[in-house]
Amino acid sequence: MERKRLSKALAAAGIASRRASEELIFEGRVQVNGETIRLPQYHIDWKSDQITVDGQAVKKEEKKVYYILNKPAGVLCTSARIGKQSIVLDFFPEDQRLFTVGRLDRETTGLLLVTNDGIFANKVIHPSSNILKEYIVKCRQEIVAEHLETLSQGARVDDKWIRPVSVQKLRKGTFKIRVKEGKKHEVRIIAERAGLKIVELSRVRIGSLALGDLAPGEFRLLSEKDKELLFTK
Ligand code: URA
Repeated sequence: MERKRLSKALAAAGIASRRASEELIFEGRVQVNGETIRLPQYHIDWKSDQITVDGQAVKKEEKKVYYILNKPAGVLCTSARIGKQSIVLDFFPEDQRLFTVGRLDRETTGLLLVTNDGIFANKVIHPSSNILKEYIVKCRQEIVAEHLETLSQGARVDDKWIRPVSVQKLRKGTFKIRVKEGKKHEVRIIAERAGLKIVELSRVRIGSLALGDLAPGEFRLLSEKDKELLFTK
């Protein structure tokens, strides 16, 4: 149950300030389930009560939240649980209607954004945003020049040829790859075409926002500055 004082509920929904919401109630302009209520302290339940102001329906405004999570391996990016499989949303409070911004494969780790703001999520994942995603890829083999050459050519993913923005060898069997697209399994497909077997795949950056030192399974709220960094090249 989400019972709340009527005046508080109107203010939280962005109708007016708490004081001005009380005035609206006193003036008889607020109905709950069709009945005019003149008591600001009247309790409503967003789940079951219909509230109108001047005949216009009022919707509960959910506070928008933005998280950065270090996704551990073995966890699915889905809102619909199948069986006992652990899902990313298990890490977060249950009372928020959250979803992931795009997806990482079950065995991929690293930077994942989680929010309840659909407009923000679409902006991040839409191809027109041109946001770079950076991955660190650990392979079974030593990476040689031929691998790097083939990796940088890219691969066909679904119906599109994906060419990485950059590929760089970091250590013996580890390379860094930056891609603009957000296609399913894209990095795995590109690595496979180069004949490389991936042992670990981790996303470490989206735009200029880096994963930083969050431990696997740990998350924190994004600041306004962090949100800007996502869209900064
Ligand atoms: N590319 C992949 O292949 N897998 C991911 O999880 C993300 C990008």
